[in-house]
Amino acid sequence: MNLTQKIIKEHLIKGTLEPGSPIEIKMDQTLTQDATGTMAYMQLEAMGIKRVKTEISVSYVDHNTLQNGYMNADDHAYLQSVAAKYGVYFSRPGNGICHQVHLERFAKPSKTLIGSDSHTPTSGAMGCLAIGAGGLDVAKAMAGIGYRLTMPKIVQVNLHGKLSHGVSSKDIILELLKRLSVKGGVSKVFEYTGEGVKGLSVYQRATITNMGAELGATTSIFPSDEITLAFLKQQNREEDYIELKADEDATYDEYIDIDLSSLRPMAACPDSPDAIKNISELKGIKIDQVAIGSCTNSGYEDLMKAATILKGKTIAPNVSLVVSPGSRQVMMKLIQNGALATFIQAGARILECACGPCIGMGQSPKSDGISLRTFNRNFYGRSGTLSAGIYLVSPEVAAASAIEGKFVDPTELDYDDTFEKEPVYIDDSMIIAPVENTDDIEIIRGPNIKPLPINDRMDQIIDKKVIVKLPNNITTDHIAPAGAEVLPYRSNIEKLSTFVFKNNKPHFAEICKENHGGIIVAGENYGQGSSREHAALAPMYLQIKAVIAKSFARIHLANLINFGILPLVFKDKEDYDFIDEMDELMIEDTSKLYETNKIKVYDKTKDKYFTALTSLSNEDVDILMAGGALNYIKDQQ
Ligand code: F3S
Repeated sequence: MNLTQKIIKEHLIKGTLEPGSPIEIKMDQTLTQDATGTMAYMQLEAMGIKRVKTEISVSYVDHNTLQNGYMNADDHAYLQSVAAKYGVYFSRPGNGICHQVHLERFAKPSKTLIGSDSHTPTSGAMGCLAIGAGGLDVAKAMAGIGYRLTMPKIVQVNLHGKLSHGVSSKDIILELLKRLSVKGGVSKVFEYTGEGVKGLSVYQRATITNMGAELGATTSIFPSDEITLAFLKQQNREEDYIELKADEDATYDEYIDIDLSSLRPMAACPDSPDAIKNISELKGIKIDQVAIGSCTNSGYEDLMKAATILKGKTIAPNVSLVVSPGSRQVMMKLIQNGALATFIQAGARILECACGPCIGMGQSPKSDGISLRTFNRNFYGRSGTLSAGIYLVSPEVAAASAIEGKFVDPTELDYDDTFEKEPVYIDDSMIIAPVENTDDIEIIRGPNIKPLPINDRMDQIIDKKVIVKLPNNITTDHIAPAGAEVLPYRSNIEKLSTFVFKNNKPHFAEICKENHGGIIVAGENYGQGSSREHAALAPMYLQIKAVIAKSFARIHLANLINFGILPLVFKDKEDYDFIDEMDELMIEDTSKLYETNKIKVYDKTKDKYFTALTSLSNEDVDILMAGGALNYIKDQQ
């Protein structure tokens, strides 16, 4: 067996290892971050358990750390108290970015991890099977319920040779994005093997597993070997080590080969992580901003490489350089060894250990600005400046370019890229561990913490108007936007729902209210993008009962079912054409979904019938009939 199969087999509750078949696996660990966590813990509360049933669950605060009003602070107080109540570790704001801290302090080889953040696969660098999902699936895992997914295909990525001076592990994942595109990893796990693996530290591996999310992969994983052991020893966690690798005669569904010595420094150009060019093609282009940080490249080695290049130099007058270390552990080490002083002497501005500019919390570039970032995403508008050009690069390219004020190829620079392996600074005082007796703990609910909306059971006949008709490729960002204006309301669905489709269908929420809910009609690939469940939860709150689309994105389809919204696909895609907004549609007899995957829909306004299809299991239908997974779980208790 390969490594992925071994871990899945150990955790299998239902199903077989046949790619494409439905499986259910036990989750050992969970993580949440604050932007998705408030909802996940409200859902956990609604499940009526007393204490989490996982081995380790951690609640991180790293996204909405700006406190311009009471809202984010209310969320943090709720998260801290609810974590204490349910036996969850709480990583305080300032302790670092969830994926970085989890890798350093909690991830273990051979364990399963589910997190309400799409970059949860970062912990795959430790030989952990780590998957990103919606918050409700994470809440279910905390309640001891298995995670349902489709058995992925396993891709063997064979690394051989050695990275050249100035080339980094970021360039390995950019090479894969160049070859496969942002859709190339869907329903696949990327398992790294070969001699080249031995030359990569755990931090370097983590950059690759982190950005496997940009391939659309279910997850990515490295073996647990002597490099892992060395990392765990440095973290005082030697006891968490076990050796873990694929069998000699393991088989895989697909095979990719990368000669590390052939790679050159690369950049993902605006506006997609798969728009790859070599730095040599960009050399000399003037830049305005450099940001070093995020969960992709803010580990100790990343920042030390940048500091080595910046030592004794000053950044160009046209450049703003910001540095956000990934964890307090890393920040403290940089203080102890003087690297933080190097950054400040060079002209860098030091940000807190948090997501910061990566989630649009400050540092938007100037209009038409060129920004080099060591991050993982550069979708249009994510930086907060629509006209800016965002390039994703390695820390080496970022630091070298900041000095010159233009793209620089670090392979042409003479610097020492070996640095002393020093003892790690370890201090978990910003991680509040769970206590045994939680009876007296009060959960703090400030005014921003609104009750969780609960859905009605599904009607046998759905008779509603089409509130909006949408084109192809609608993202979760279109449905439930992000940004500093909206993020503080992640725990206030009533308020959040007023932002739904704000750029596609102004007043969507009011129209839903006037019509007592409705139906959404959409084109291909509805709900692509992030895993955020608010894109299903807010429409549920507005009483959207069904979405009829030409096709759905996988995670959003699961979220719709979880929140009791019926996902239907046009049998004949041309039927999309005759439906107009405010047409009254009648979906006949939803209880038939147990027997058939076809259902008749009557457009009363046009006096026309059409057929819609589903791909629902009987358990999915049970969940939908109950009005969503929360009601379904309560029914079963
Ligand atoms: Fe945070 Fe950006 Fe990673 S928002 S979790 S640093 S992708």
